Amino acid sequence: MVPVPPRQRHADLVAEIRRAGELYYVHDRPELTDAEYDAMVRELIALEEEHPELVTPDSPTQRVGGTPVTELPEVRHEVPLLSLENGYSPEDVDAWLQRVVERLDGRVPDVVCELKIDGLSVSLVYEEGQLVRAATRGDGATGEDVTPNVRTIRALPVELTGPRVPRLVEVRGEVYFPEKAFEALNRSREEAGEPLFANPRNAAAGSLRLLDSRITAQRRLSAFLYSVARWEGPGAPATQSDALAALERLGLPVNPHRALARGREAIGAFLEEWREKRRTLPFETDGVVLKVDRLEDQARLGQTAKFPRWALAYKFPPEEATTRVTAIVVQVGRTGVLTPVAEFEPVLLAGSTVRRATLHNYEDLARKDVRVGDTVAVEKGGDVIPKVTRVLLDRRPDGAAAFEMPAACPACGERVVREDGAVAVRCVNPSCPAQVREAIRHFVSRKAMDVEGLGDERIDQLVTEGLVDGIASLYSLEVERLAPLARWGEKSAANVVGQLAKSKEQGLSRLLFGIGIREVGEKTARTLARRFGSVEELAKASEEDLTAVSEIGPETARAVREWFGRQANRKLLAQLRGAGVRMTGRDEKPAGEGPLAGKVFVLTGTLAGRTRDEAAAQIEGAGGKVTSSVSKKTTAVIAGEDPGSKLEKARALGVPVWDEEQLEAALEGRA
Ligand code: IVH
Repeated sequence: MVPVPPRQRHADLVAEIRRAGELYYVHDRPELTDAEYDAMVRELIALEEEHPELVTPDSPTQRVGGTPVTELPEVRHEVPLLSLENGYSPEDVDAWLQRVVERLDGRVPDVVCELKIDGLSVSLVYEEGQLVRAATRGDGATGEDVTPNVRTIRALPVELTGPRVPRLVEVRGEVYFPEKAFEALNRSREEAGEPLFANPRNAAAGSLRLLDSRITAQRRLSAFLYSVARWEGPGAPATQSDALAALERLGLPVNPHRALARGREAIGAFLEEWREKRRTLPFETDGVVLKVDRLEDQARLGQTAKFPRWALAYKFPPEEATTRVTAIVVQVGRTGVLTPVAEFEPVLLAGSTVRRATLHNYEDLARKDVRVGDTVAVEKGGDVIPKVTRVLLDRRPDGAAAFEMPAACPACGERVVREDGAVAVRCVNPSCPAQVREAIRHFVSRKAMDVEGLGDERIDQLVTEGLVDGIASLYSLEVERLAPLARWGEKSAANVVGQLAKSKEQGLSRLLFGIGIREVGEKTARTLARRFGSVEELAKASEEDLTAVSEIGPETARAVREWFGRQANRKLLAQLRGAGVRMTGRDEKPAGEGPLAGKVFVLTGTLAGRTRDEAAAQIEGAGGKVTSSVSKKTTAVIAGEDPGSKLEKARALGVPVWDEEQLEAALEGRA
């Protein structure tokens, strides 16, 4: 690769970091993993150290307040911070308690019920009563030193009080943003033209990890502590309820809403009580943590690969909020499908401000009969996209008209059709600007051809200026045409053209994913590339040839055939070939080679050293297979932090559960 001149690299990094920040904070739609983001910030810092003349006032390094920085010193946790197993229903609670009782030889232990605070976990060490260190959780083993920042949190004393201050105590808890303070923070950011935080948790995390504690001090963070990790000296607690009381006596903030439940019914009553009442609290909670009270019992119960057996995080059912629909807009996707989207008055829901929700398709919208002016219930569980669940009919304003799907495409004005048997309404114009834009966006995205420097705004600009009318035309872009455009210039133009040239060598699987065949995601694209080895061979494959591949179902086979059957698509391929885009190559090792040959894995939870996608790519690169559901054929389930129900299933089926280290060993052929 031709080395990029430092000035240009600097401009690109600044733009990328800004865009990533905006997607994260404003749209709550991060496209980069934290690691990728951090790597870019680190590169920028290094580049600026080497070339101080490149530092611009608008560089993210100059605005400490907006940038989660990685340069905080690392801290190794003496006692690792574990995460908790999740439960979502009364049955999950029953099952957990039953497992506990079995391991305690039939005795039902007392259980402490605590609210689960939605913030960021921290560990504080007090020596001789003085706060000497505060650290974030990090990956559980190593966190970041945030002592100066934590010292600015008024709820947390820098000196312990009370008659029996232990020689050393390490306490754990959650730093959070009280709702009111969060709203005030976002209001002032809005006034200052700064990007808004998507939710209180992000705001807490961002504020705690700032490099400049003077800024942290201005943020009204708070905290609750919920456990004792180490206690040296007399008076060590013997139960969790004692521990909480001891923390209170030391002057530390402990959430008062807790109960010691004697038996399953009492647990149920606490869960029931807080299901609704939590909304009246001035902070966010997303569940209840159940903990076996006696520390001796906790020790006896021990832990699995990742969680203590003595605790369970019960998550409340999805939160619902009501708001008013201000508009119903119709978006045109990359395949021309028209999707109605309800826009509403911003409302805080499950920790983030939501402004719109997809109505999926016309039928969905018609069934729910959502109208502009309606008050609707919106639901959101975990990180899922919000959805409109129902209309509050008694609050419908007079004269609200039923929504009609447009007869013409809102982007290009061409006619729309509803295909037989399909619920989707489609724009039939292949050069519809909305479709072109979406197709390009997908084609250049990170997981497809990975062309840097072509963000949404620029793609819009290219389509509007008539410089591109489809994927293939990207490859005819010239520096001379791009440079004079508003907000481009010689350097970005050269960079984008260079990136495009480089993308021609991305290989078959990324190409197959990028051209946007319905049903062909990243993984199917890899399978197809491996099996067929070239676009030509794939184009020749019949539906039977396709379904003969073990991971390809009839629906995908049909979609692939249909795609290659279209004249316009064949033309696109000819153009891409003409532009020099590589159309062959199996990209990855064929199955059956490598240390993981013949092994099947399922990934769950967040891994510390890599994203799940990266892990999947590594496993496949080593000849293994990654599937989405656990069965008896699964070699192992690889569990990261906050794993889902797959872990339960693995246990039920007796499938081994590996942590990341075991995966690493296996990848290197050491297991
Ligand atoms: S106890 C080994 N108690 O939830 C047990 N955690 O999903 C350690 N959290 O990482 C955690 N409120 O950040 C516990 N009352 C509470 C909690 C709580 C919030 C967080 C904590 C933990 C996460 C696990």
